[in-house]
Amino acid sequence: MLKQKGFAELKIGRKVYKLPIIVGTENEKAIDITNLRRDTGFITLDPGYGNTGSCCSSITFIDGEKGILRYRGIPIEELAGRVTFIETAYLLLHGALPSEQKLKTFSSLLNKNSLLHEDMRHFFDGFPRGAHPMHILGTMFNGLSTFYPNIDALSMKEDIDVTATRLISIVRTMAAFAYKKSIGEPPVYPRRDLPYCANFLNMMFDSPVKPYVLDPEIVKALNLLLILHADHEQNCSTSAVRIIGSAQVNLYATISAGISALSGPLHGGANQAVMDMLRKIERKGDMDYFIDKAKDKNDPFKLMGFGHRVYKNYDPRATIIKQTCHNVLKRLKIKDPLLDIALELEKRALSDSYFVEKKLYPNVDFYSGIIYKAIGIPENMFTVMFALGRLPGWIAHWKEMVESKDRKIARPRQIYVGKGLRHFKRDEKAAAVVALKVKGK
Ligand code: SDX
Repeated sequence: MLKQKGFAELKIGRKVYKLPIIVGTENEKAIDITNLRRDTGFITLDPGYGNTGSCCSSITFIDGEKGILRYRGIPIEELAGRVTFIETAYLLLHGALPSEQKLKTFSSLLNKNSLLHEDMRHFFDGFPRGAHPMHILGTMFNGLSTFYPNIDALSMKEDIDVTATRLISIVRTMAAFAYKKSIGEPPVYPRRDLPYCANFLNMMFDSPVKPYVLDPEIVKALNLLLILHADHEQNCSTSAVRIIGSAQVNLYATISAGISALSGPLHGGANQAVMDMLRKIERKGDMDYFIDKAKDKNDPFKLMGFGHRVYKNYDPRATIIKQTCHNVLKRLKIKDPLLDIALELEKRALSDSYFVEKKLYPNVDFYSGIIYKAIGIPENMFTVMFALGRLPGWIAHWKEMVESKDRKIARPRQIYVGKGLRHFKRDEKAAAVVALKVKGK
């Protein structure tokens, strides 16, 4: 719900400008600068957009100070463990959890769309052995735009559920196929009798010579992890999807851009980077060495899985994932020394004034990798798991952007700080050097 509540006054020189103040459902306030440049000739400057709202959205609400995360108004703590990832995907897309009938239809579409086009299977043969699965996924998604060319903001001729279930279902098949390819095993096809997460685990770990036994508790844990990753308002990759989509780019190519943004170690790539960091701490056996490095302004090292642009409190997802970590390791009777290191690192950081003053807490990526590792997912696929979860959020935001009445191509301004006007003149010396090279002298 959006209300206008009075005006902010901006005084430039002797002139006072009135800028509308808008207020959202949860009392978030913004100064609407839509006409700022037209009225004042000024733009605003906000590197990293930490103070800039790019849109109004009804999908997800985050209160970073209070550590609140809600999907379509429902706290994630109330969804986690109560609904499936697919029900959450439907909620993000449509604004309400599906009825039994709608869930049946949605699920049958997921099944119908779960096969990767056989011509695309050969794409995997073209990738080098060590190709990172996130790069494979991003490329494959771009490739999908050649199979489904007319899926963009304007020419969307099919129902969003057909498109969304194709994306959500195929990404799971692609990820599992990429894994099987990387270990030289034949792909395991999706099964029509298995729900989303169970199907994924089966495609990943079943094999003609060693049947995979599905553990309902592990399937539940995977549902939970994907739910917690499903959306997070205007994060880097979702903003990338909105920006690329605003140019009316094919949806699959747009999602490919989201996958690329997510792969960065400062974003979704952090879950893999956390494991590298924990192993380095284990090998060095000196945790304080790394904490000091993280605090050293001259050292680019950061504690991976710590800190957040919005959460200045404990990331509510990290709280749930930390508990799930204990549950999964207990279920699988695994004792992972990296979990002990992570718990100790969290304890020491949260009692260190540097982290306390800067409000740096564990985020969604801090514990998730330990669960993925326990389930058997290879580390270079941890960010792929993040993408599987985030896909419904990306699609929901793309749909909201496409349907918005004030949709326009995203095109920020800048302040130019380069050289002033100067005219072209050939630099005789440089020209002479080039001439000599050309003459082979
Ligand atoms: C995700 O946006 C989202 O919602 C993202 C996400 C989602 O669901 O989509 O939540 C998923 O990307 C989680 C974040 C995963 N990334 C990491 O764990 C990487 C490590 N974290 C940092 O790189 C950092 O905290 C960011 C990138 C997450 C946030 O960076 P900001 O908001 O730009 O904060 P900043 O770099 O300006 O930090 C403020 C201060 C700085 O110190 P000063 O310059 O003020 O002295 O805090 C310091 C930073 O140096 N700081 C850290 C730190 N994170 C911030 N110092 C040590 N270790 C860290 N992890």
